[in-house]
Amino acid sequence: MSVTERLAEIADIGRDADRGGYSRHLFDATDASLRDWFRRSASALGLAVEEDGDANLWAWWGAPGDGAVATGSHLDSVPGGGAYDGPLGIAAAFEAVAQLQAEGFTPARPVAVCAFAEEEGSRFGLPCLGTRLLTGAVEPAAALVRADAAGLTLEDAWRASGRDVAAVGPDPDRVARLAAFIELHVEQGRDLEDRGIPVSTASAIIPHGRWRLEITGEGNHAGTTTMDQRADPVVAAARAVLAVQEAARARPPARGTIGKVQVVPGGTNVIASRVVAWLDLRADHDEDVRALFDAVLAGARAGVEAEGCTLVVHEESFTSRVDFDAALTARVAAALRPGFGAVPSIPTGAGHDAGILSSVVPTAMLFVRNPTGVSHAPGEGARDEDCEAGARALAATLRGLAGAA
Ligand code: GLV
Ligand code: MN
Ligand code: MN
Repeated sequence: MSVTERLAEIADIGRDADRGGYSRHLFDATDASLRDWFRRSASALGLAVEEDGDANLWAWWGAPGDGAVATGSHLDSVPGGGAYDGPLGIAAAFEAVAQLQAEGFTPARPVAVCAFAEEEGSRFGLPCLGTRLLTGAVEPAAALVRADAAGLTLEDAWRASGRDVAAVGPDPDRVARLAAFIELHVEQGRDLEDRGIPVSTASAIIPHGRWRLEITGEGNHAGTTTMDQRADPVVAAARAVLAVQEAARARPPARGTIGKVQVVPGGTNVIASRVVAWLDLRADHDEDVRALFDAVLAGARAGVEAEGCTLVVHEESFTSRVDFDAALTARVAAALRPGFGAVPSIPTGAGHDAGILSSVVPTAMLFVRNPTGVSHAPGEGARDEDCEAGARALAATLRGLAGAA
């Protein structure tokens, strides 16, 4: 099989009729189908699959044990996301194992292919949920009280999926078995396309924070409330959005986004009572994100108060900057040299499970060229030949890391 053929097997799972692309979320019907595909792909290669207490899947080549080399990514998506963000890293991992098996390679260390739960945080708001729970980066109790858009808590969704809530939480023994983790991922920009290079390693992930802004005004009648009598939270939210743009633009290369807004109650002839807006801020260093947040907050608060509304802010997550393990990245680059020459090591503005795992295990990433540079949207791309190059690069990496005990 090829990586393209492996991805084709899941091409019909979770298509988003509204935006195009894919909407695949934790514990929905697509999640179950994607997990089935993972199990089938693993068993076709003779890998034994287990699910840990945090809903992460592990497919083992060789008995699970110390000094393991793990690779993988995630199967969930953002709403209306692309076909590659996540699944490419898993399809390429299975393909890399298939290639190594075909050439008669026997790993001296256990190799695991992983699918981590809810990397995007699209349903319960916490990115890299599975790896945060696994590593203890979030307390189970703090995660389980989070609710989805319908108000269902993670705890209830966990139980409804048939899983054991008591098993949720850090698994230090499992983590301690890992000698290295490698995540292959589609590039979420055009750097490799512009350089004319199919694959690279990653140097760093810039930090990012997510906040929920609750703007409260006065619900009223659209026809009878004169313009000077209003405390309209939609107008206040518009001012907050502009404050985000202004603050981020003033601090390049910082990025500020409000990509999700909920208007309560949401009626054409109703002045809303409340707006909830989700804020995503990124910048080079943790302190830059904090400073950007302070500037956004000052601007948003002034705008909200000017409309006679009130603002309450909740921090949903903060993910610190990650600089990937330099020694492991150098070993990966060395493994790639015979097939790919000297590959660059590039930073990214996108979050990854590799970033969370890097705090507990030497971690590196491989990026595959994206001709559109688009991600988190249906236009995300990767040429078939680059997906195959990614699998060859991952095979070379696993050969290098798992070949010697
Ligand atoms: C995940 O892809 C993120 O960067 O938010
Ligand atoms: Mn993503
Ligand atoms: Mn991803």
